[in-house]
Amino acid sequence: MRAISPRHLEWTLHLFHEVGSTNHVAKELARKGAPEGTVVVSTRQSMGRGRLGRQWVSPRGGLWASLLLRPGTVRNLGLIPIVAGVAVAKAVEEIAHVKVGLKWPNDLVVANRKLGGILVESCYSGTQLEATIVGIGINVQNSSLSLPEGLSTKAISLSDVGRDVSELDLLQSIVEHIEPRYQLYRTGKTDSIRREWQQLSMMIGKKFPVKTASEIYEGLATGIDADGALLVKLSTGSTVRILSSESFDI
Ligand code: BTN
Repeated sequence: MRAISPRHLEWTLHLFHEVGSTNHVAKELARKGAPEGTVVVSTRQSMGRGRLGRQWVSPRGGLWASLLLRPGTVRNLGLIPIVAGVAVAKAVEEIAHVKVGLKWPNDLVVANRKLGGILVESCYSGTQLEATIVGIGINVQNSSLSLPEGLSTKAISLSDVGRDVSELDLLQSIVEHIEPRYQLYRTGKTDSIRREWQQLSMMIGKKFPVKTASEIYEGLATGIDADGALLVKLSTGSTVRILSSESFDI
């Protein structure tokens, strides 16, 4: 365990060589009462999980980390992935000097390939929100060539673009970028965060088909609303709200 740059929150790091999933470990710690600011990092994950039930391949060299937050209320919870996406993109740009785009809800994209992703999961006791886990996966030193076939052409790592970055320096920068935005989120001042997401987004102003559980839409992304939903204007003139739990085919 080691403390990193405490400001409002005390961030405490739990380092592992190998776990199934850092999100799973963070959830267990949350259930045992671990405080907000607990961070779980592992060199590898044997059962890393991505969004929508997908597997997340997590070899040595990547940053696989989960942050435990306790927002206290479900109000605006949909903005947590937006806070995390902005903070992680800013951290990568700061540490690796590489331009990052965000694809809905928070895929980190470099040179049209996926550098990383974020999996936000919440734990409840009955209807009471207990904790929210922000799971962050970034390909850092692990070459995308070593990833399984099918992923190697879609993924990219910082080493693939010639950046020599330490996973823990990147994590420290992520925490430093999350903290002020999370404080704004907690006080309901979310306009600037939504603006930042829109500036980093590769979707705003673009048309694409949107597939939800029940329908397929063709629409133009226009922004993020106060709950963190993507606003998509359909050719019929009406606007639909897409939540981060819904999927897109682009
Ligand atoms: C995505 O599907 O894009 C989200 C991927 C999130 C992966 C990270 S790695 C650390 C944390 N632990 C997990 O099992 N998943 C997240």
